[in-house]
Amino acid sequence: MNRKANRKSPIAIIVSISIVILIAILGSIYYKFEVAQSATEEKSVEPTELEKEETQNKTNETEEPLKPQDENADDLASSEKNGGNSLVNSGEQPIKQPAKETPPATEEVELENGYIVGQKPATEPTFVKGVLIANKKNPLPSTYNKGEDPKARAAFEKMAKAAMENGLELVAFSGFRSYDYQKTLYDRYVKRDGKEAADRYSARPGYSEHQTGLAFDIGEKGREDLWLTNEFGETEAGQWLAQNAHKYGFILRYPKGKEEITGFMHESWHFRYLEGELATKVFEAGVTLEEYLGIQ
Ligand code: DAL
Ligand code: ZN
Repeated sequence: MNRKANRKSPIAIIVSISIVILIAILGSIYYKFEVAQSATEEKSVEPTELEKEETQNKTNETEEPLKPQDENADDLASSEKNGGNSLVNSGEQPIKQPAKETPPATEEVELENGYIVGQKPATEPTFVKGVLIANKKNPLPSTYNKGEDPKARAAFEKMAKAAMENGLELVAFSGFRSYDYQKTLYDRYVKRDGKEAADRYSARPGYSEHQTGLAFDIGEKGREDLWLTNEFGETEAGQWLAQNAHKYGFILRYPKGKEEITGFMHESWHFRYLEGELATKVFEAGVTLEEYLGIQ
């Protein structure tokens, strides 16, 4: 009875085996599904992490080009402060300025009382917009020796005549000076007052406008005591000249307060002849010849 009961029929055995196989298959499918699912989840996580990195990298990329620029700018700011020799990052705000810019010529040359140290003697006179220039930066050749300009002389005579009609007798007590004569004068002044003082009122040889033949030192007859003094500028003759000289082609060459530009202290007596209407234009502009011509 028990033996019979314990003995399973072949059908029952087949069904049991089928169930086991089915369970195994289902288990296998479930396992594969789980693995696949977990793999999908992993994949879905990895890009997120990569995205973060990419975002980070993108952020860095956005900053990267700026960072070196900023650092460079700081370096440049620091470098400038240190005379262009330092690359130390100062940590300060960048100076919005190109660093390796070539400095203007004026910063490269060494000056002594307005003169360029070591400047070679001129071989040609300098003309700017057709105007002959003689100043501390633009010397004349020592051989430039044309004498007094006849047009300048004629203009002076015309002006003196007009002044005379106003009861003022003008005298051109100094006109053309050769290179050698200017040297004699300058050396004498240096000996007397020293180089620094002399350089404010007397041109070095080659640098005097008197050598152009276009300049006159003007005073009043009978008031020789005021010649070469700025008291002359306060006199009626001096005032008349300051206001009317331009009508005859002359400009007051070294006005008050313009020493930094002209290189010479105010001289109420020194007038420079300019052709045509230029003197009136310079007068009306209220500037020096250097400023009018846009030169130093
Ligand atoms: N006194 C002027 C500057 C000259 O010597 O030419
Ligand atoms: Zn003069």
